[in-house]
Amino acid sequence: MPGLDPGIHRFREMDRRVEPGDDACKDPIMATHKLLLLPGDGIGTEVMAEVSRLIDWLNKAGIAKFETEHGLVGGAAYDADKVAITDATMALAQASDAVIFGAVGGPKWDGVPYEARPEAGLLRLRKDLALFANLRPAVCYPALAEASSLKPDVVEGLDIMIVRELTGGVYFGEPKTITDLGNGQKRAVDTQVYDTYEIERIGRVAFDLARKRRNKVTSMEKRNVMKTGVLWNEVITAVHDREYKDVQLEHQLADSGGMNLVKWPKQFDVIVTDNLFGDMLSDIAAMLTGSLGMLPSASLGEVDAKTGKRKAMYEPVHGSAPDIAGKGMANPVAMLASFGMALRYSLDMGDLADKLDAAIAAVLAKGLRTADIKSEGTNVVSTSQMGEAIVAELQALHG
Ligand code: IPM
Ligand code: MG
Repeated sequence: MPGLDPGIHRFREMDRRVEPGDDACKDPIMATHKLLLLPGDGIGTEVMAEVSRLIDWLNKAGIAKFETEHGLVGGAAYDADKVAITDATMALAQASDAVIFGAVGGPKWDGVPYEARPEAGLLRLRKDLALFANLRPAVCYPALAEASSLKPDVVEGLDIMIVRELTGGVYFGEPKTITDLGNGQKRAVDTQVYDTYEIERIGRVAFDLARKRRNKVTSMEKRNVMKTGVLWNEVITAVHDREYKDVQLEHQLADSGGMNLVKWPKQFDVIVTDNLFGDMLSDIAAMLTGSLGMLPSASLGEVDAKTGKRKAMYEPVHGSAPDIAGKGMANPVAMLASFGMALRYSLDMGDLADKLDAAIAAVLAKGLRTADIKSEGTNVVSTSQMGEAIVAELQALHG
């Protein structure tokens, strides 16, 4: 792995359903993988074009066999159908081996009804596919230590995994209302709810990942203020005591956890936290790696006991970035690395995912940069040039 911290690969062995070396690409009868591509809005379409480039090459080179469907989500779906995602697209998502998602939203849709706002499409996908476990690995590529706003020694070699609960908490709790109190005042209510089973299952995901990495889990909540924090702390502690005594567990309050994340991020291995804290902490973690444009994510459901498969969606952590959309400036790395996570977690192609990561590292090491990660002496390229370079590097690595 030229120039890449070997730590980056530790977590990726989790949940493989086949033995290493059993990659589909080596099978005499190659499995066909059904993908649903949902580019969404803004730079979502630009970075997804680079995934399509990669898929086309993999198909043509006979390395894998992908069947792709395409759908609209977010503002694009609203413009076409007045909803954030149609039932027909949801059916395609349910039937796919993996959903590859770009980004949604933009000022154009600021005024649309709340139920049809672009983000509602993403939230429906997460909820209806029951994707409760969101894995957000923050890995600082050696070549990018200089691009971080933090000192290089703070982020060099950084490899942490944020495990965010994704289908519960304040995102989905009811009631969720704005009531007119009739006296010129309104009252807004969001509800933070967690049941024991929701905390248990996300805790297990975090502990299982830690066992394949550096064996440490930090759980973050606000038990000093919130009842859900009290229960979160209690349940994570109980799961640990019952099933994962061999893993080191530590608890931090989410606010000071955020501080520690920028103070000395290398103290963390796996961080497990709720939906809202996970949203905020993962944006912070992203900047440690140099740019929001670098962070991929996987959203996973429960493994089906009958088929051994799980529903899954892969998306970059960054948003639709309307300010740079259409300019060919977006960084496609988070999107391509998200596709890499699909290869690893859904499609039994861990070897290929390793090569894709190595290709990304190699292209960065050669000095190619999109504008968000540029630094002195590097070569600033467009979204498609970056995508092309990564595919070319992968081709070279593949021999
Ligand atoms: C994320 C995003 C989403 C979230 C938005 C787009 C709804 O910020 O995936 O982190 O809040 O979960
Ligand atoms: Mg977010």
